[in-house]
Amino acid sequence: MHSHHEPAQHGHGGDGHGHQGHSDHGHGGSHGNPEDLDAYIARLEDPARDEWQRPDAVVAALGLRRGQTVGEIGGGPGYWSLRLARKVGPAGRVYAVDVEPRLLEVLRQRLEERKVGNVTPVLGLPEDPLLPVASCDLVLLVNAYHHLPDGPAYLRRLARALRRGGRIVNADFHKRETPVGPPVEERVSREEFLAGARRAGLVPVAEHGFLSYQYCVTLRLRRALRRR
Ligand SMILES: C[S@@+](CC[C@H](N)C(=O)[O-])C[C@H]1O[C@@H](n2cnc3c(N)ncnc32)[C@H](O)[C@@H]1O
Repeated sequence: MHSHHEPAQHGHGGDGHGHQGHSDHGHGGSHGNPEDLDAYIARLEDPARDEWQRPDAVVAALGLRRGQTVGEIGGGPGYWSLRLARKVGPAGRVYAVDVEPRLLEVLRQRLEERKVGNVTPVLGLPEDPLLPVASCDLVLLVNAYHHLPDGPAYLRRLARALRRGGRIVNADFHKRETPVGPPVEERVSREEFLAGARRAGLVPVAEHGFLSYQYCVTLRLRRALRRR
C-alpha cells in the first residue's frame, strides 16, 4: 500500500492498499499509509470491500457480548470500530488505536455525526498502543499487523492489555498474490505471524478460514491457558 505512486486500486477493492504493485514503504506517506489520505479512506470504506472482507461474518465470528471492551489496532477511519461499537452496545467500549492523527480526526467526525458515544480514539505510538493494562476482552487487528515496526514486541504489549480470558484476533493478507492487498513483499505470512505470536507468549486457539485473501487467527496467553 502505501506509496503515492503505487498503482491506484482497480476493480473491486477497498482494501486501502491499491492493487499489487511497487511500493516504498516508509517513504512518501507515513506509517505505511499513502500521502493521499482522502483516496486512502475512500478505498478503506469502499462498499465493494465488503464482498471479500465480509465484515458481518468477521464481527459475528468474534463472539463479542454486549458490555465488553475491544481494542482495535490500526483502526484508521473506523470500518471496524463502528461495527464493533454497535456489537458491544452502549455499555461496552471500543478503543480505536491508530498512529495517524488525521485518520483519527476523520473517525472523530464520524462518531460525532452518528452520535456514537462508546468509541474512544487513541493516538498510539508506533511501538505501543498505549492501552491500559488489563482493559480489553478482545484486541482486533485487521490489515494492520504488517504495518507494525516490530510485530512480536507489539503483541507483547497487547497481551498486557488483555483482561483475564482475553483474546487477540488478527486478520491479515496471505503472503501470495491476491486481487487486492498490499504488495506481497510487505505482507507477513500466517506462519511468520504465528511464530512471532509464540515468541510473545501467545498461542493460537482458533482460526477462521472463510476469508479468501486473509488468514484470521485467534490467540490467547499461553500462561492463561495453563491456569485453567
Ligand atoms: C490498511 S489500514 C487498515 C485500517 C483498518 N484496520 C481496516 O481494516 O479498515 C492500516 C492502518 O494501520 C495504521 N497503522 C500503521 N502503523 C501503525 C502502528 N504502528 N500502530 C497503530 N496503527 C498503525 C495506519 O495508520 C492505518 O490506519
